Amino acid sequence: MEIVIIAAKSENNVIGRDGGLPWHMPADLDFFNRQIDGCYLLSGRKSYETAQGRTLFKGKAFIVVTRRKDYTLPEGKVGHSLKEGIAIAKRDGAKRLCILGGGEIYRQAMPMADEMIITEIHTKIEDGDVFFPEINLRDWKVYKKESHKKDAANPYDYSFVFYTRQQ
Ligand SMILES: NC(=O)c1ccc[n+]([C@@H]2O[C@H](COP(=O)([O-])OP(=O)(O)OC[C@H]3O[C@@H](n4cnc5c(N)ncnc54)[C@H](OP(=O)(O)O)[C@@H]3O)[C@@H](O)[C@H]2O)c1
Repeated sequence: MEIVIIAAKSENNVIGRDGGLPWHMPADLDFFNRQIDGCYLLSGRKSYETAQGRTLFKGKAFIVVTRRKDYTLPEGKVGHSLKEGIAIAKRDGAKRLCILGGGEIYRQAMPMADEMIITEIHTKIEDGDVFFPEINLRDWKVYKKESHKKDAANPYDYSFVFYTRQQ
């Protein structure tokens, strides 16, 4: 099973602010939806509980990771550690597990991931409160990058950057 991290981050590694995303970038949401098509999904409890999280997971195979023993979900599965979450996806026969954050989960998942698909939002967010871990280019190499200019709907320039693990 392939493990793929999918995230959008600013130039200074911000991924969240006040429990949500610090930007509205419809082009990134479209891209994101294409990337997760066919994936088994995994996220931290906090990201799942955002309005966007709940909408995103509807009707999909997914796992929410929490330390709460009494946590239940109307649909989807619960893992009590990242390792347990990954084991559930494997047991369910997933071919591709997409790790969707947030910050706590990305930090723990990075050493286990095979690929990362990162939207770089070309701005610095000064009041962010959740961060993506530093990407060490001794561990990761970029194999594809697509850059786009801002437009009427998307307020920042952005790039879709595909990383694979260095051999
Ligand atoms: N830009 C992006 O691509 C992106 C993507 C996703 C999220 N976000 C943003 O990121 C923010 C949320 O991130 P966050 O770091 O605060 O929270 P998070 O990673 O979504 O969730 C953290 C929670 O996950 C559970 N958890 C973490 N590690 C665990 C472990 N090893 N075992 C069991 N449970 C574990 C705990 O849940 P319990 O407290 O229930 O025990 C913990 O409180 C939001 O602002 C969201 O909008 C951004």
